Amino acid sequence: MRSVSRRQFVADCGCVSLLSLVPRGVFVDASKVQEFLVKTDSEIGLVRPEFHGHFAEHLGSCVYGGLWVGRNSKVPNINGHRKLAVKYLRDVGVPVLRWPGGCFADDYHWRDGIGPEARRPKRVNIHWGGYVEDNSFGTHEFIELCRLIGAEPYLAGNVGSGSPSELRDWVEYCNYPAGSALSEERIGNGAREPFKVRYWGVGNESWGCGGDMKPEEYAALYRRFAVYLKEFGGTAPFLIASGPSRADVRWSRGVLDNLRGELPDGLSMHYYEGGKQEPTKFDVLHMTEQLRIFKDVEEAICLQRAVLDGYPRGSKIALILDEWGVWDQIPSEDEKRHGALWQQSTMRSALAAALGLNLFNRLADRLYMCNIAQIVNVLQSLLMTEGAESEKCVRTTTYYAFALFKAHRSKTAVRVVPSEPSPEGISVSASKGAKELVLSFVNPSADKDVVVDCTVLGGAPKAVTADMLHNPDLNAFNSFEAPDQVVIQRHTARIEKDKIRLELPRLSVATASVELG
Ligand code: AHR
Repeated sequence: MRSVSRRQFVADCGCVSLLSLVPRGVFVDASKVQEFLVKTDSEIGLVRPEFHGHFAEHLGSCVYGGLWVGRNSKVPNINGHRKLAVKYLRDVGVPVLRWPGGCFADDYHWRDGIGPEARRPKRVNIHWGGYVEDNSFGTHEFIELCRLIGAEPYLAGNVGSGSPSELRDWVEYCNYPAGSALSEERIGNGAREPFKVRYWGVGNESWGCGGDMKPEEYAALYRRFAVYLKEFGGTAPFLIASGPSRADVRWSRGVLDNLRGELPDGLSMHYYEGGKQEPTKFDVLHMTEQLRIFKDVEEAICLQRAVLDGYPRGSKIALILDEWGVWDQIPSEDEKRHGALWQQSTMRSALAAALGLNLFNRLADRLYMCNIAQIVNVLQSLLMTEGAESEKCVRTTTYYAFALFKAHRSKTAVRVVPSEPSPEGISVSASKGAKELVLSFVNPSADKDVVVDCTVLGGAPKAVTADMLHNPDLNAFNSFEAPDQVVIQRHTARIEKDKIRLELPRLSVATASVELG
């Protein structure tokens, strides 16, 4: 976020000194007030609901035992989908869901997951522990889940160990209405209407688990695959090429240089914020180190966008942050008990989620879609379950961080500038609707409570309400025994002399909805 000089800030406000307006002693000491200017006429871009996208991989207990308990389970389910998970995900809203991987996608053969369940082959999941999966969750089940939770499906295709004809057939199977062998097979498997899947990934991490390729090798394969991935029955596929990890422009340039004009609709990039401690045992130093990575995430996004924009028609390529989130040191006992990468979400994780979501608002003109990894049980998940036999399903701190940002969806992000750089690292973003302004704040400091004052340029605040997620313990989390340790609470915000004011205690995320006159 750009900071402005105090003089510029005062000039922007058209007033003598904002600090002189702060009623000293009424709220807190004036030295702890952080001032922001919300420039409602300085638009960044649309906050696409897809910035709040999700990712489900056949990994650990994300799908089996997490989202999917099976049709014969004693756990309440809808055709095998865990009922409580469906409800929670519907509530928070999942704009888009990417499946079946990740690394798994490049070893997945879609035909294994269609047809009568009893006849589906059992396969070894080679990437995530070498266990056997029964393929009871396949394409039809995924599409049904998407419909249950209101998500747009995003299928990640197999390039690493698959073929152009296999992927081309998957597209036809899903999207062609009727009359061809593949569409009739889909109808025979119970789906009369085409699935109309728009988003198709062409490989995942092709520089690593997706085939260990050089950029030019991947580009050649991408071109070959793309020839056959056509519009079937009126649904034009939106092809997403495998992009770089972090700021690796060597990969993106290498791919784009060798595409010979066969540009993809989107390029995916991955950025995990690695953590050096166990999820529930972070100290302040390591939390600060982890949260600081968002500065690098911002730079990486801007860099990748600039690389794309540098190619003829490159500005048309959508930049997709396909996997992001905190990836901590997961205790092996947790993984043994609950599956690979089963990671608890804490107050710290919620701060990380909110820093990311604030960033996406501020970079709304550069991004198209962002999918946090992953939706249930794995890494920075929204929900945690206790296994296929248990009904328990807990909403994590990350779930609540997403809930706090829901109000931004489909609004227009606008610029917010601080009066001076925030020593506490307060992060802010704003978006506006017809007569409404939504502001989100993160106070990542472990020991400083702050008051924020927002002056709105281009609109007069009439009424304000706020919600907050806060716990003074950075390691606080929602467990199966205590599922409501960290939940959203109503928070006090007020309008004072045309400014919006709210307290931001240490380790908090807050969203204020402002009615504008
Ligand atoms: O999300 C876990 C793994 O991280 C994914 O399978 C892979 O794409 C990435 O390396």
